[in-house]
Amino acid sequence: MRKIGILTGGGDCPGLNAVIRGVVEKCATAGIEVFGFLDGWRGVLSARGRWLTVKDVEGIQTQGGTIIGSSRTNVMACENGPETIVEVMNAMGLEGIIAIGGDDTLGVANMMSKQGTNMIGVPKTIDNDLSCTDNTFGFDTASNIAMEAIDRLQTTAKAHSRCIVCECMGRHTGWIALQAGLAADAHLVLIPEFPMGFDEIVSLIRRRYLRGERFTIIVVAEGFSLKGADEIDLGTDAFGNKLLMHKNLAKNLSDMIERAMRADPLLGADAQHFECRPVVLGHIQRGGAPTAFDRVLGTRLGIKAGELVIEHRYGRMVAQIGNSIVDADLDKAVTVRKEVDRDFYEAASLYFK
Ligand code: F6P
Repeated sequence: MRKIGILTGGGDCPGLNAVIRGVVEKCATAGIEVFGFLDGWRGVLSARGRWLTVKDVEGIQTQGGTIIGSSRTNVMACENGPETIVEVMNAMGLEGIIAIGGDDTLGVANMMSKQGTNMIGVPKTIDNDLSCTDNTFGFDTASNIAMEAIDRLQTTAKAHSRCIVCECMGRHTGWIALQAGLAADAHLVLIPEFPMGFDEIVSLIRRRYLRGERFTIIVVAEGFSLKGADEIDLGTDAFGNKLLMHKNLAKNLSDMIERAMRADPLLGADAQHFECRPVVLGHIQRGGAPTAFDRVLGTRLGIKAGELVIEHRYGRMVAQIGNSIVDADLDKAVTVRKEVDRDFYEAASLYFK
């Protein structure tokens, strides 16, 4: 009897359960048993998990989270981490592992693969920043959640003539911020790929104010860095440490905008009461049921991963290119980050006004 393991690692992501279901269903067609390790690589290191049957995965594509749990476990930092993985696999009779994860989780799979252990990667991140695939599942759900939140911020910002700075997830890239911001008509989207100075940001809000549009929605990706941020004095904490812009990014930006607008002599007396509020969407973006797009993409990727197992084609990552599900180079996927391209940013910036 052929047997494989499966795990979900890193931040959870709507669509993970669809992948698990696709893998289990496809493997079952060839009589291959699937062991679901609990909590990502941590579960492999301690041989914890359970066998997953077709019955176990019935209908789970509708649920967020992951039925086998997740963790951020750095196998390299664990004593004899890679050796333990091989020992556990041998003891359980597993011929390979399907690792569903982002750059960290797939990085381990890639390293194990290079050392001769059978691995297949499934790209996962709401951030959408993995290369060799057009989309990662979870991104669509996260962007839709952020879009709906920004739609709501529009009406309250307008009612109070306020500026609202809405922070979206995206540690290294601005995919969610730009997708959601463009869809919900944000007046400015700030992303890591295209740094901007504070003066440019305030002058947009000021221009809007002067033409009678006294509310502004700014969407910022959490990884955004303000040009010249190091020179900005935000004061110190209780221990005298310099406060950093990227910690509390939305709050810092919001406070700075409020101060700058209130102090602007050209805006008139009303502007002395100008208000700006920070909103951090945080983990709400990762929670809840996946969209149809993510359920289907996850399912198709899972089926493809199962197909690679059946065909003994290890060392690959499944991916979406156009409308096809293909297999791609695992090594390249984890070493090159997919950033927002200038074309997309420029198209969106037509609406920065
Ligand atoms: O990598 C996905 C992601 O959601 C990032 O956008 C975010 O910075 C991070 O995970 C948050 O991680 P955690 O759940 O560990 O706080």
